[in-house]
Amino acid sequence: MVKRQMISIADPGIARLAEAAQDRRPVSGLTHEYYRYPARFSPWFARAAIEAFTRPGDFVYDPFMGGGTTLVEASALGRKAVGTDINRLAVFVTRVKTTPLTNAQLELALVWFDGLADALNLRKPPQRAADWINLGYQKNISGKTTWPIRKLMELALSKVQEVADEQVQNFIRCALLRTGQWALDCKETIPRAEQFRRQFFQTLQQMVEVAREYYNKIKNAADFTEHNEPPISRCLHCSAMDIHRYSIFSDSEKPSLILTSPPYPGVHALYHRWQVKGRRETPAPFWIANCLDGNGASFYTLGDRKQQDLRTYFEQIRLIFRSLAKVSCSHTIIAQLVAFSSPSWQLPEYLSALKEAGFVEIFVKGYRDSLDGRIWRTVPNRKFYADNKGATAASKEVVLLHRPS
Ligand SMILES: C[S@@+](CC[C@H](N)C(=O)[O-])C[C@H]1O[C@@H](n2cnc3c(N)ncnc32)[C@H](O)[C@@H]1O
Repeated sequence: MVKRQMISIADPGIARLAEAAQDRRPVSGLTHEYYRYPARFSPWFARAAIEAFTRPGDFVYDPFMGGGTTLVEASALGRKAVGTDINRLAVFVTRVKTTPLTNAQLELALVWFDGLADALNLRKPPQRAADWINLGYQKNISGKTTWPIRKLMELALSKVQEVADEQVQNFIRCALLRTGQWALDCKETIPRAEQFRRQFFQTLQQMVEVAREYYNKIKNAADFTEHNEPPISRCLHCSAMDIHRYSIFSDSEKPSLILTSPPYPGVHALYHRWQVKGRRETPAPFWIANCLDGNGASFYTLGDRKQQDLRTYFEQIRLIFRSLAKVSCSHTIIAQLVAFSSPSWQLPEYLSALKEAGFVEIFVKGYRDSLDGRIWRTVPNRKFYADNKGATAASKEVVLLHRPS
């Protein structure tokens, strides 16, 4: 019989990880609130995993980086962080969240905003974004209550182009993105223009304060690393399937930790749209972030969740883990948070993809709260839902730990 790989809950790092996996506090801290990426995981979970399995200066890789929780936490802890995502919006958001801005750059953002007060006025002539409109990026945001928000965003965006520093421009775009999300996404009542203006200013101010703290955090983290240089953080717009084609990890420097949360099998999540007034979807976030989308929901979720046996999902997962195996080394740990709409067959199928790629599972020994040696967590009120709506198996998530065999 093959001996099961075990780690003990008596190890303080593992005990903290198990505890952090159960943490139900709303996401906060560092730059996490710059944008609320759908299905993001808890920063406390990410931090605990990074501390348990890596040391300062090590590489941490998130193949499905989404809103960048892993990269933000890894950078703040002095680790080198790499992330991939096929969603340009994820790449935009993670880049902004992980780019430390200097005081001078932040001042530039505030000065820009001071000059905006006059321009953000509904009586001003419209600044229609013709190219984006023609491409459909303003769909469902020109209704009776939504057009003032759209117009204010258009006015702000026409001004943001005047900011010469691209990093500052993206920082402001991100503040607008967060405010737009606050105003439109899943909102029953759309705020009035005045409320939007106020919220935009507050968001930008809060982000500036957070960015100052983040800058210092990154600077201090650099003291931990070998050469006192800020840790590298790289966000790539590519499929995790292709990571082995990039020369990011050298033979002598492979990731110590692959920390991630993939799209969940059979679970609906909208990574690339806001839902306006019920179920009307808009791709407006791409317009605000100045990047292109052009793909349907199933592109971002590894296949159509309505496909009976989720064949496409599991085919892609298999290819992705094969690719992850190529960038791993003997000491790499894969820690992931996954949920299943139908765990009885999907969990074994998922585990077999990892096994085929050459990974063995690691179980937690002595963990009283678990019958199968895995850390499970229950998530109340999750925004996404399983196929069999109501019976939300997807609200139960599991932490899977693996290493190359
Ligand atoms: C659950 S989200 C990750 C959330 C992230 N952990 C966070 O805290 O924000 C899954 C992400 O996987 C991305 N994705 C889907 N297929 C991918 C692929 N083949 N390669 C890389 N990323 C992919 C989606 O675009 C989505 O952003």
